[in-house]
Amino acid sequence: MMPEPVILDVDPGYDDAIAMMLACSAPELDVRAVTTVAGNVALEKTTRNALKILSFTKRAKIPVGAGAASPLVRTLRTSEHIHGESGLDGADFPEPAFGPDGRDAVRLMADVVREASEPVTIIPLGPLTNVATFLEEHPCLTQNIRRIVLMGGSVGAGNVTPAAEFNVYVDPEAARIVLESGLPLTMLGLDVTREATVGPEEVERLRSVGRAGEAVAGLATYHYAGAYRRTYGLAAPPIHDPVAVAAVVEPAILETRSLRVDVECEGELTRGETVCDLYGVTGRPPNAEVGMGLDRSAFFEILIRSLEGLGI
Ligand code: RIB
Ligand code: CA
Repeated sequence: MMPEPVILDVDPGYDDAIAMMLACSAPELDVRAVTTVAGNVALEKTTRNALKILSFTKRAKIPVGAGAASPLVRTLRTSEHIHGESGLDGADFPEPAFGPDGRDAVRLMADVVREASEPVTIIPLGPLTNVATFLEEHPCLTQNIRRIVLMGGSVGAGNVTPAAEFNVYVDPEAARIVLESGLPLTMLGLDVTREATVGPEEVERLRSVGRAGEAVAGLATYHYAGAYRRTYGLAAPPIHDPVAVAAVVEPAILETRSLRVDVECEGELTRGETVCDLYGVTGRPPNAEVGMGLDRSAFFEILIRSLEGLGI
């Protein structure tokens, strides 16, 4: 089976970094481009971090397009309290071995999708500003998008407010555009990604997988684990973003439901909430496959065996 062409849209951030390493190592995927967006930290930091991660994984041939420095209409909200000032505090990745592509995120996305001989899957792992802009500016290219599999939103509680998950909270208008695009879309929200916690057992297994495993173990512990303990009282931090990549590799790790999902953009208390119509009471047609359950052990097996194949 030919590897599936994918574009990663990221705001590294620790879990984005792990997701990038997973995507670069999974034989089922062909990472055609990485695009960066402001989110966990500012754009210049997310871009620098993406370049560092690709340099570490020796994937210098993957172009990196820098994208939106702020949301479509809101002011940027970042999360240094979780990811540190640099976005990767405590991680000792080498300096980037190459610079960003001359094209920005939207132009790079457009070129990759236009030139692909088969439909491309887009995997957004941060605020959806780049993806929304791409869909708005290049409607003719949507025919060559296979699907969008995103980490964001939640059926239940949020993590930035009681109602909203970070990626959607930062740019709810962009999330609305993506969810209303009509494209095949899988939304992996906190309900499933919070299951992907990295505890002592997972750290030990990761450390047995060479430099790649050591790096992932480091990303998932140190600053990130402490931040999740302090902020959410969790003993082990969830690695949200790699769940979206693993779901592209092996959809069977997920239990999903076809649901209508709308984004609240006006609410004082509920801005950024992904309102999931669990019982079909709106009568509006489903627009997303929504993650409801995760096979946690299968997820980690995909992560471990992919990293083993990274060969670094
Ligand atoms: O809410 C979790 C999401 O927000 C993850 O993508 C994390 O990297 C942050 O961007
Ligand atoms: Ca992210």
